[in-house]
Amino acid sequence: MKIETMRWSHNRLEMIDQRILPASFEYLSYDSAASVAEGIRSMVVRGAPAIGVAAAYGVALEALRMASVIPPPSHEGRGSGDENFKAGMEAGFTVLAQSRPTAVNLFWALQRMRRVWESVAAQIPQQIAQRLLAEAHEILAEDIRINRALGTFGAELLPDGARVLTHCNAGALATAGWGTALGVIRSAVEAGKKISVIADETRPFLQGARLTAWEMVQENIPVTLITDNMAGYMMAQGEVDAVVVGTDRVAANGDVANKIGTYMVAVLARRHNIPFYVACPLSTIDLNIAAGKDIPIEERPVDEVKGFRETHWAAEGVSIRNPAFDVTPAELVTGLITELGVVLQPNAQGIRNLMPAIVL
Ligand code: MRU
Repeated sequence: MKIETMRWSHNRLEMIDQRILPASFEYLSYDSAASVAEGIRSMVVRGAPAIGVAAAYGVALEALRMASVIPPPSHEGRGSGDENFKAGMEAGFTVLAQSRPTAVNLFWALQRMRRVWESVAAQIPQQIAQRLLAEAHEILAEDIRINRALGTFGAELLPDGARVLTHCNAGALATAGWGTALGVIRSAVEAGKKISVIADETRPFLQGARLTAWEMVQENIPVTLITDNMAGYMMAQGEVDAVVVGTDRVAANGDVANKIGTYMVAVLARRHNIPFYVACPLSTIDLNIAAGKDIPIEERPVDEVKGFRETHWAAEGVSIRNPAFDVTPAELVTGLITELGVVLQPNAQGIRNLMPAIVL
């Protein structure tokens, strides 16, 4: 089954509402930067690459919206129409940039869209909007190609019969399709390997129980769900052969930010001599951040920890923290799996050697 996390339909962006999966499968429709930003913030769409693709469409939607309210230029010139267009676009960029702080793909996509805008800024808004839309389509298609490429590299690392533990959801739903960590698993299965998955539930938003488990069940890839605190037991029992996770941002020294709980899994994997791999498109590497301690970590609403949806089980009045990500030091990472190859024991030099000049 092909999962279309988002799609362009009737001049709108449609995104699967990941908040209600797997109980319901529904697309929501978006027509502006502000509405897409709200979709990202509220986690209708989530996962670093998917957030980046959605933001690119957010910019294109804003351009289309602004272009539709600005009259075509008259013979007197363009004047205030252009100014309004620019102001609307800047507001769109700002609201999107404020939607979530940790996934660097968001800022990567906004920067790419801004460069495209600048390259055609002399054209009329209608033409600019079409060019930005074409770029958003390209970012989406490219994301799937990248996942396929890193999947092929990653699949080689997994032995036939491997039992692979993953945390959160770095699957088709977290990208434009195929997935990063789950892309590695899909590619290994496609290559004929027998792979089974152990999915951490992933408190508090349950991306593992709801999304990873759903994706694997859809594809008949054997999957076993555990709660996060069972990972150590499973490893100690010899039931885990490898860990593969995704990431929201990798610092220049190879430190990895990913869903809260990933660090705990990495420490356990090292204790049990289990390889810990991070599937990571180049767009997730942030060379402007020297080390993991400088990666901004999102704090989400405490209601997510109090309970789930309307059901609250925490004692009223208790103080609650909800950091959504943690940082795994590079020394615990066996390899970064990218679309250009695998960086084993990542460090600043290994990462620089990998990055193409265009990204540097
Ligand atoms: O809060 P989320 O669901 O957006 O967090 C997602 C993750 O932590 C993923 O592992 C990461 O974004 C990589 S997705 C390919």
